Amino acid sequence: MSNTADCPDLLLEPRGPVMVLSVNRPDRLNALSRDTLAQIGRALRAFAEDTAQGALIVTGAGEKSFVAGADIAELAALGPDEAEEYSRSGQAVMDLIEHSAKPVIAAINGYALGGGCELALACHVRIAAENAVLGLPEVGLGAIPGYGGTQRLPRIIGLGRAIELVVTGRRVRADEALALGLVSRVVPQAALLAEAESLALAILRNGPLAVAAALEAMRDGMQLPLEAGLRLESGKFGRLAASEDMHEGLRAFIEKRPAGFQGR
Ligand code: COA
Repeated sequence: MSNTADCPDLLLEPRGPVMVLSVNRPDRLNALSRDTLAQIGRALRAFAEDTAQGALIVTGAGEKSFVAGADIAELAALGPDEAEEYSRSGQAVMDLIEHSAKPVIAAINGYALGGGCELALACHVRIAAENAVLGLPEVGLGAIPGYGGTQRLPRIIGLGRAIELVVTGRRVRADEALALGLVSRVVPQAALLAEAESLALAILRNGPLAVAAALEAMRDGMQLPLEAGLRLESGKFGRLAASEDMHEGLRAFIEKRPAGFQGR
């Protein structure tokens, strides 16, 4: 496991084709400072360009916390213009995650509060350890979620459930998060990274162009009326039919052998 001079608050561990990014600020329960967020942005850009890396797992170092939010000490010093800019720059990092053409999995290993919950919401898949605690407690601080929480939570779990969580600031444990659809799987803490890794490897056995197209179609389609979303889907379906991978996938099925996808 390594942290580079460029990203001192992160541990970056390549495990074969899967990169594990751990936020590592143990004395702050992995809270996100402005600088930590910038480091995550840099790590994401490097991941996007690294052809050896097919999937990313985002987690928190240690056993207690995924990410305990934005760094409250920094928030306290912000005036209105700075606060808006702070929110926009955090949103930009979350957008980088959501727009990744390669799958990003949140492995939630403890507290995922505020900006930590929003970090998880931006990931494509969320799995949680049994000790996970998720929530958007910002209204209790007199603020609102500013890294996409008010927008992504309702899209993921539905407006009624999201309103209840956001306006109460209530925290939920892993089992309730699963029932709400906030996470898709709960596993024992000791198994969390292995589960996230095997999920990543299962995705990587599929055609990478198809996975990227599916992620994009679902993400962009959620912003559109159904009719426009269906056209978006058909367009992507048609473009994939020009790929070697789609021909290989279909041929492999007919020939009863595993497909050898090349990403073209
Ligand atoms: N920003 C900055 N520092 C934070 C932090 C955050 N979001 N969350 C925790 N820390 C710091 C604490 O201030 C404490 O520092 P100290 O040792 O110098 O006092 C340290 O991390 C350990 O946290 P502590 O509160 O003592 O641990 P705990 O086990 O009693 O409680 C939490 C854990 C997560 C419940 C509690 O830390 C908490 O409520 N954090 C804030 C969560 C939040 O509101 N996030 C949204 C921010 S917008």
